[in-house]
Amino acid sequence: MATRITNIEEYKAAYKTSLETPEQFWDEIAGEFVWKKKYDKVLEWNFLEPDVKWFINGKLNITENCLDRHLATKGNQNAIIWEPNETGHQARTITYKELHEQVCIFANALKKLGAKKGDRICIYMPMVPELAIAVLACARIGAIHNVVFGGFSYKSLADRIQDADCTIVITADGAYRGAKDIPLKAVVDEALETCPSIEKVIVLKRTNIEYNTVQGRDILWEDAIKDCSSDCAAEVMDSEDMLFILYTSGSTGKPKGVVHTTGGYMVYADYSFRNVFQYDDGEIYWCTADVGWITGHTYLIYGPLLAGATTLMFEGIPTYPDAGRFWNIIDKHKVNIFYTAPTAIRSLEAMGLDFVKPYKLDSLRVLGSVGEPINKEAWEWYHLNIGKEKCPIVDTWWQTETGGILISPLAGITKTKPSFATLPLPGIRPVLVDEAGKILEGNNVEGRLCIEFPWPSMIRTTYGNHERCRQNYFDTFKNLYFTGDGCKRDEDGYYRITGRVDDVIKVSGHLLGTAEIENAINEHPDIVESAVVGFPHDIKGWGIYAFVICENERKDEHNLKLEILATVSKYMGSIAKPDKIQIVKGLPKTRSGKIMRRILRKIAENDLANLGDTSTLLDPAVVEDIKAGAIH
Ligand code: WTA
Repeated sequence: MATRITNIEEYKAAYKTSLETPEQFWDEIAGEFVWKKKYDKVLEWNFLEPDVKWFINGKLNITENCLDRHLATKGNQNAIIWEPNETGHQARTITYKELHEQVCIFANALKKLGAKKGDRICIYMPMVPELAIAVLACARIGAIHNVVFGGFSYKSLADRIQDADCTIVITADGAYRGAKDIPLKAVVDEALETCPSIEKVIVLKRTNIEYNTVQGRDILWEDAIKDCSSDCAAEVMDSEDMLFILYTSGSTGKPKGVVHTTGGYMVYADYSFRNVFQYDDGEIYWCTADVGWITGHTYLIYGPLLAGATTLMFEGIPTYPDAGRFWNIIDKHKVNIFYTAPTAIRSLEAMGLDFVKPYKLDSLRVLGSVGEPINKEAWEWYHLNIGKEKCPIVDTWWQTETGGILISPLAGITKTKPSFATLPLPGIRPVLVDEAGKILEGNNVEGRLCIEFPWPSMIRTTYGNHERCRQNYFDTFKNLYFTGDGCKRDEDGYYRITGRVDDVIKVSGHLLGTAEIENAINEHPDIVESAVVGFPHDIKGWGIYAFVICENERKDEHNLKLEILATVSKYMGSIAKPDKIQIVKGLPKTRSGKIMRRILRKIAENDLANLGDTSTLLDPAVVEDIKAGAIH
């Protein structure tokens, strides 16, 4: 396609055009899609409200661009290759023609159950092809999907259903993840006790886990699709109609429903996918992210399908049945492009090369990294042992809110440098600012990463609360989108993300709000107060350190800690379980009652020499106590 960059000169030229004439630049790219009615205008925006609109008055359906558009040329090509949890079980392949049919059938099933344009539908499923089918079927009929990661607890699920006011849940009886069987339907049932908006629950049978059926509410997937036609006209959507909501953690306890709309998201998902990974027709592409996260939305489902790629979906985990599973799958399916998270790389590195050696890995052409900073050592291990020093690594920086990759090398085109996300994609204008918001010009600077111009797939609002979106992203620095990340720009103008500067932590690549974890811990009846901070962790990037105050002294500290872990699993999900729990008598608070997290962070990092000024604390003695009991 015309808009695929093929060398560094073209990148520079495209970047320049995108700065000088952004509307013409995006107009040309958007022209490659099927629009039911072309837009009148490319862009209107202001970052104060914020109010951003792309491809104004355009009418389209994203699934026509993911599916129908490819039928004539790629109908018999695999759209999805699915690798099950168990090595002995048969992989499944679904061609574009079959995927189109199954999406239409399930879309008709949703309609039969009363779903219509604008309804919110929650999807809480294992990594099976039906998850992709469910997502696309929602988009087909104009329903807004709200995918919740299958590892979240009933409470997190309930919060996300309530906030989005969903009417339908699509789930499965259970999930196979490694050696574990996870009872998804039971979690849904518990969540729905507090979700009166839900009218129907569609249940896919995936495991043999038993579950309860609520008459009149629950329906089996296979029954729902019975007699449904494979003909389903795609709903006409406006460019700015909502496509999906995806919840992400913030500094406050309540997750934010990030809203993405149809036209801009489509254009950017496709453009960024093709350019970053340099996808060639016929290649097998594998993104290991769960669809419950943004990476799974944009680079497992939408981006690859828009580009007519073959996308691999894996049900299991990297260490089951052993730590060679990823490499086994790469050889088995001749994967050309492999996209994963630094945590996975570090944990597999720690298992030793014996798990890598049996595999050839010679189909690989491009490697990708996402979700957290990749340290130099992990980058080099990945480059040498997986990429055999011939595969470019794209270290892709982006966020749930950005919808697509904003800063990244283009595979094989941009010269890479370990731990640098390198350069912005065309159309993306990053700036670094100091704490006061002054823009730092030139190279060799470090500050807070902001974006000063809109891009098509950017967040439009936070569901049900636009003010929250404004405050979170557009209020810190006037006329800038603030990412929450710290960043350096080196002498070559390359960007290196240094990590979060707010109260969220990236644990194994998952974004978790410290306030959310504290709320979960505080559900334990014996806990009066808690404070959670991150500490550097060799494998997970960041670990979770919880300081807790207990109401009555408990002699059985060990049991108390186990109970706290169980409480966090119950109220949030096991991904949020603290690595370290220290029981303390008090927390370092200012006279106005604010916890000084800076001090706790230093203690958690074992940087006791740099605690800073503690004289403004209400009771400086607590610091000594905490230091004495710190866990290192
Ligand atoms: C972090 C994930 C360094 C960053 C797509 C960002 C990264 C947050 C990178 C968003 C990277 C993502 N290098 N840090 N290549 N990619 N991050 O919303 O802190 O789950 O703000 O989206 O992940 O996390 P989210």
